[in-house]
Amino acid sequence: MNLEELRAYAEERFIPILRPPTEKVLISLLKSEEPKTVLEIGTAIGYSGSVILKNSNAHLTTIELNEERFTFAKNTFKNFNLTDRVTQILGDANIVIKTLDKKFDFIFLDGPKGQYLKELPDLYKLLSSTGTLFVDDIYYHGWVKGDAYPAHKHRTAILRLRKFIAECKELFPSLTLLDDGDGIMIAKKLNINKKTTEY
Ligand SMILES: C[S@@+](CC[C@H](N)C(=O)[O-])C[C@H]1O[C@@H](n2cnc3c(N)ncnc32)[C@H](O)[C@@H]1O
Repeated sequence: MNLEELRAYAEERFIPILRPPTEKVLISLLKSEEPKTVLEIGTAIGYSGSVILKNSNAHLTTIELNEERFTFAKNTFKNFNLTDRVTQILGDANIVIKTLDKKFDFIFLDGPKGQYLKELPDLYKLLSSTGTLFVDDIYYHGWVKGDAYPAHKHRTAILRLRKFIAECKELFPSLTLLDDGDGIMIAKKLNINKKTTEY
């Protein structure tokens, strides 16, 4: 199975994976930053992990809660001859990130949106001093944009995501919010002139 077939497989089964516009931004950032170590929250079937590995020389540590997806991803990495460059962890990212003791140059955050706020302190600690945090689907179907009070069942996740963005704006010297896909946040630890850019 090549990447295109893997995408089709995910789409047929409603497994949410990296959208093409987000993939484009991710690849260009990986090429410019050349991270040596990447942490991914939310492996799913190994699509984004394979994109990361094929577009960098990094070692990837990736966490997935669902055992079936974890096993599927193992085969994906094997199929692409990427196994040597991946550490796959089966477990709840909320717990696992507290046990990791190395620093990462790049973190790709793509797990459950309602957890990001809780995970932020641990993720910030895990990020190297020049590291980048890349967050997919930050606008969560567009609901997170603006400040209207969300009147539906995703209210808690939306309010938490807004708080997560606000905290990241305080924490990171450089932060960019892009409209591509369902919203991307790129937060960098290193930037002499503090700036927030929104598109
Ligand atoms: C959006 S998908 C990841 C897509 C993948 N990054 C890609 O683009 O190919 C989110 C994944 O996070 C997993 N997940 C949900 N809760 C989790 C948790 N607490 N810890 C780790 N993974 C979790 C889900 O099972 C799902 O596979």
